[in-house]
Amino acid sequence: MAAVGAEDHYFTSTPGSAPRNHHVELDTERGLVRLRSSDGTFSPRRIDPGTAVLLGSLPDPSRWPDGPVLDLGCGYGPIAVTVAIRSPERSVWGIEVNERAAEDCRHNARALSLDIRVASPGEVPEDQRFAAIVSNPPVRIGKVALQALLSDWLPRLVDDGEAWLVVQRHLGADSLAAWLDDVGWSTERIRSRRGYRVLRVRR
Ligand SMILES: C[S@@+](CC[C@H](N)C(=O)[O-])C[C@H]1O[C@@H](n2cnc3c(N)ncnc32)[C@H](O)[C@@H]1O
Repeated sequence: MAAVGAEDHYFTSTPGSAPRNHHVELDTERGLVRLRSSDGTFSPRRIDPGTAVLLGSLPDPSRWPDGPVLDLGCGYGPIAVTVAIRSPERSVWGIEVNERAAEDCRHNARALSLDIRVASPGEVPEDQRFAAIVSNPPVRIGKVALQALLSDWLPRLVDDGEAWLVVQRHLGADSLAAWLDDVGWSTERIRSRRGYRVLRVRR
C-alpha cells in the first residue's frame, strides 16, 4: 500500500499535503505512457502491484458486451487509461472521490487523447449502465463501506456485464468474494498472484 501525506488517507476528498506531482510509467499497447500523479493520492510513485496484477489478468475487452466501462475509484487513471487504449471505441468512466486524483486522471486522459469521463460518484446519471466495471477498490474505507460501494455500483452492470476486481488476500479478498456470493452475485477467483486475488463478478 502506498504512502500518502501523514494526515491524509488516499480517499480524502481534498488532500491537505502539498500537491507535488510525480510521473509514473504505464506499460500499454501504445508502449510506455507517462501518467501524472500527486502526493495525497493512492500509489503516486508506481503502478500499484495489485493494479498491475489486475491489468495483466483482464480479458480482451471485445469479450464484454457493447457499452461503457467503469473504473470504480480511478485514482490517477492507470486502469481507465489501459482500458481506453485497449478498447478505443468504448467510452470509459472513471469515478473518484479524491479531487486531486480525479484532476490527474483528467489530465492524463487529455494528454493521451483518450475518451475518459472522470466524475465524482454523484455526477453519474442514475440510469447510466456499464458493460464492465474494472476496479482496484478502496478496501481501506472498511468492510461495511466497501460493501455499500459495491452494492451501489454492481447493479449498474448490464445483464451480461461483468466486474473485475483485485483485492489483497490479507485484506479480505476471500471474505469479499463470499459476501458477494451471499448477496446474489456469482464470483469466480480468476487469478491469485503476489498476494492478490482477481475476482470476476457476474449476475
Ligand atoms: C485502491 S485505489 C485505486 C486507484 C487506481 N484505480 C489505481 O489502480 O491506482 C482506490 C481509489 O478509490 C477511491 N475511492 C474511495 N472511495 C470512493 C468512492 N466512494 N467512490 C469512488 N472512488 C472512491 C480512492 O480515492 C482511491 O483513489
